[in-house]
Amino acid sequence: MSGLVGYIGERNAKETILEGLKKLEYQGDSSGIAILGNGVAVYKEKGKIQDLEQSIQAEKLTGTAGIGHTRWATRGKPNRMNAHPHQSRSGRFVLVHNGMVQNDAELKKKYLPEVKLMSETDTEVIVQLVEYFQHQGMDVEKAFRRVLNELQGTFSLVLVDAQDPDTLYAAKNKSPLVLGIGHGHENMVASNTMAMIHVTNQFKDLRDKEYVILSRDAVEIKDFKGQKIDRQTYTVNWDASSTDKGNYEHFMLKEIDQQPTVLRNIIKEYRNKDGQLRAGDHLDHMHIPKRIYIVACGTSYHAGLAGKRLLEQVARIPTEVHIASEFLYGQPLIEADSLFVFISQSGETADSVGVFNNMKQLGHPTLAVTNVEGSTLYREADYTLLTHAGPEMAGASTKAYTAQVAVMAILSTYLAERQSLQTGLDVFYELQKVSRAMETLQGLKDQAKQIAHQFLKGGKSCFFIGRQLDHTVCLEGALKLKESSYIQAEGYAAGEFKHGPIALIEEGTPVFVLITDESTASIMRNNIQELDSRGANICVLAAEGISEPGDAWVLPKVHPLLTPLVTVIPLQLIAYYAALALGREVDKPRHLTKSVTME
Ligand code: G6P
Repeated sequence: MSGLVGYIGERNAKETILEGLKKLEYQGDSSGIAILGNGVAVYKEKGKIQDLEQSIQAEKLTGTAGIGHTRWATRGKPNRMNAHPHQSRSGRFVLVHNGMVQNDAELKKKYLPEVKLMSETDTEVIVQLVEYFQHQGMDVEKAFRRVLNELQGTFSLVLVDAQDPDTLYAAKNKSPLVLGIGHGHENMVASNTMAMIHVTNQFKDLRDKEYVILSRDAVEIKDFKGQKIDRQTYTVNWDASSTDKGNYEHFMLKEIDQQPTVLRNIIKEYRNKDGQLRAGDHLDHMHIPKRIYIVACGTSYHAGLAGKRLLEQVARIPTEVHIASEFLYGQPLIEADSLFVFISQSGETADSVGVFNNMKQLGHPTLAVTNVEGSTLYREADYTLLTHAGPEMAGASTKAYTAQVAVMAILSTYLAERQSLQTGLDVFYELQKVSRAMETLQGLKDQAKQIAHQFLKGGKSCFFIGRQLDHTVCLEGALKLKESSYIQAEGYAAGEFKHGPIALIEEGTPVFVLITDESTASIMRNNIQELDSRGANICVLAAEGISEPGDAWVLPKVHPLLTPLVTVIPLQLIAYYAALALGREVDKPRHLTKSVTME
């Protein structure tokens, strides 16, 4: 949700922190920065990082340590007063915070009855408390630790002390926080590795109920009791250019275009030199389950729907797919011998992590399919499969989806091989074919643009219909369109359309129709006629071999179980060009946050 960055080293802290915050910018409605030097200088601004950057342009901030924040408002309106960092009464302590503290009102009443708060946030209470305990005679670390032990709720936070320009204090409980280990005399901390990749690709995890003291030459991790903890450093193979737009106007288009490369990366990562599938040794100990539960949110949930088909058809294992936030409060009956698969780009989504913790506690084996090494799900699942999509910067997820579906195909094949089943899916050969098909589709950007203009420029609400796997892609196509263009769009199972939604068809209502399955092609054509006779403005995207004259798009033929990997591409492109035509902020859709770390 909100994002935070802390830096201590030899570089200009203002620039280093602002660059980090920009990598998180999609998450903010206001932002702020505090730079240590001679005391501490704090600046905050409503709006984008650029607004903050502009307002402090003239300030000569030469300090080499500081903290920054981009806020996604939860408690209190997005304005300068509520923006972070927040300061203690004397101004000595300054803090940025992600998450939500539950007991701030009680803490305020108990320890700070006299203190007049300046903001509506829970965060201000935290920083006032540090000062309160420090005034009670504790040193800063002790005061910080005492506060951490008082807090209930979710938080990742970074604190600085105006009297000590050589130290940052950071802590985590149920909100993401990662340590960046610099190459020289510098260290960093941030809510996301992407915000540090311009400084380092070496990281250490911080777990729940741990804090860390950062100086230029050391990081010291401790638990909330003050016991020291050793933590290994790991390297992430993402470089700084992967978080730049390069020659693209928007990350969304760059990431759509990266999909064939991502697929080839996945093949490289999961195929050994003899052409055999290697899922990782750790998976060899995994028991073959009787049932699989896939749990995910948003686009990842849609990838799960495609994954279900793969797991059932290729690995012959009955599979259910659940929306994490629903599962969390209404757990279905779970078969004893089950595997839980969590699909999550970020590996941090609160609802998915919530279900994960519950299932772990119940003793079910867990497997995470995630894009982020070092994320909560990556660290804590029994088994992990990385999606190797590289950092996804655009608000609307594109390459993470195709990477997830491809990895589900690999997982399905792996589980089939473990059971010595004939899969009927030569997974690497077929994925290679898909990557070529994706490339040809990307050559058709003008066609996508024309469709977006012809069908969507009026901003009318629209529908996406299809059957079976096409239906799962319709859900994703509609989600892409609504989040990037704000056009109301619904994905529907074509057969269900007659049971209600057809009443919404008016003269000119756009309906996108996906047809890739020969067995349902003729019934889909009947459905089209029914809609056509009621005035719908129909755009058909059909597979080679079953397309008909007048169809707007002919999709290259690929393995029937892998069709989502190609059908989704024109829908992503159409959503992109519709957003562009309507003048939307393509990479940062309003109200959306890339990583939903609160329920
Ligand atoms: C947010 C993002 C979506 C994403 C969903 C799940 O809503 O805007 O793009 O699909 O979270 O995120 P995850 O990181 O768990 O895949």
